[in-house]
Amino acid sequence: MIKKLSTGLLLVMVSSANATDDYSKELYEIYCTACHAVATSGAPQAFTSEWDKLVNKGFNTLVNNAINGIGNMPPMGTCTECSAEDLEDIIRYMAQEQKP
Ligand code: HEC
Repeated sequence: MIKKLSTGLLLVMVSSANATDDYSKELYEIYCTACHAVATSGAPQAFTSEWDKLVNKGFNTLVNNAINGIGNMPPMGTCTECSAEDLEDIIRYMAQEQKP
């Protein structure tokens, strides 16, 4: 009997948590700032601690809610060209507490 040994290939993902690409920033500027950078909009403000409790829901939930819309948040945050991955990138960007 031949035993197949898994060679244990490990894909080491380089963390890019603080390296939001320009494309995501651009999408954020175009589509999300209308509410997420306007305190009176009722939307959680980008780069503030308002995201702390939201992040606890998990990014999957946040992305799904962004896709489907939630409360006064329109589906896709009006970004019809955004993929789920784009939305996640933008959300991670907005959830950074420090100003970019
Ligand atoms: C027209 C205003 C508006 C725009 C544009 C908008 N949002 Fe929002 N967003 C909101 C409001 C209001 C909430 C709070 C919803 C609530 O909890 O009732 C929200 C909440 C969210 C949440 C939290 C969802 C949750 O689970 O609580 C995420 C994530 C989010 N927005 C992502 C985005 C992204 C990404 C964009 C740009 C592509 C965007 N939004 C554009 C108004 C907007």
